[in-house]
Amino acid sequence: MPAALDPFRITDKLDENTLDVMIGRLEVRGHHPYFAKPLSDYLDRMEIDRRSAVLDLGCGTGIAARAIAARPGFEGTVLGIDRSDYLVHAARRFADSEKLSGRVRFECGDSHALGLGAASFDAVIAHTLFSHLDDPAKVLAEMRRVLRPDGVAAIFDGDFASLTFELADAERSRRMDDAIIASLVTNPRILRQMPRLLKDAGFAVDAVMPAIVTEVGTAEYWKSAVESFAKLAPKAGILSEAETTAWVGEVLDASAQGVFFGSSVYYAYVAHAV
Ligand SMILES: C[S@@+](CC[C@H](N)C(=O)[O-])C[C@H]1O[C@@H](n2cnc3c(N)ncnc32)[C@H](O)[C@@H]1O
Repeated sequence: MPAALDPFRITDKLDENTLDVMIGRLEVRGHHPYFAKPLSDYLDRMEIDRRSAVLDLGCGTGIAARAIAARPGFEGTVLGIDRSDYLVHAARRFADSEKLSGRVRFECGDSHALGLGAASFDAVIAHTLFSHLDDPAKVLAEMRRVLRPDGVAAIFDGDFASLTFELADAERSRRMDDAIIASLVTNPRILRQMPRLLKDAGFAVDAVMPAIVTEVGTAEYWKSAVESFAKLAPKAGILSEAETTAWVGEVLDASAQGVFFGSSVYYAYVAHAV
């Protein structure tokens, strides 16, 4: 398989039409209970309401940063960082329209080299960033550097090696799962590496919180996901638009017939610096 261009890793190079598809997807996904609940659960575990300075890396449209800023008990400020200027502008617009601009701000930057002061945050989160990174260990080192000694970090992402959509033919399902995963994610096994990476970066794990996103019979959450995959996956250069569209047709046909099976596991790691 050729080296893939995970579209979420190269958001600074994508055209605006593709980024608009991504914005729509991130907003639908972020507001869905399958995603909002695990976020709320790990923020509770981090005791986020008593943190005064929070950093959200790979913030995208600011789903997590805005959720923190909107919490009734939260009185601090949130800084969201993303490598795409276009997504940062979208995040600012959403925050303005939700009247959250006093608590949250967004800047363009690379999580591998933040240019932020050491020990300047009480909490750092990365919400579905790590599976897209060039160098996850470097980003963990940055998270560790900018955290205050009593600070807390959280990494939430899909265990994308577990992402699967069953088609009528099992062997074709396996091949298409592999191609879709390689088209959308740089590090599909990153959450399985996280215990080692966190330890090496000087973190101790406080909690690991799994969430299983499985739909059987009819697709609802996964329907909007695969529809956006149809537009994003071909950017990676593994599948053509025609192959991706045919795959989406098969997946949605299974849903229409009530025989859909789609699933992925997600995990939140909550950790503190040692
Ligand atoms: C899957 S999206 C997640 C966005 C948001 N956290 C959410 O869950 O809705 C991944 C985001 O990480 C950003 N990103 C990827 N690599 C990055 C890097 N090295 N530094 C900062 N942002 C990065 C992308 O631009 C994209 O917005």
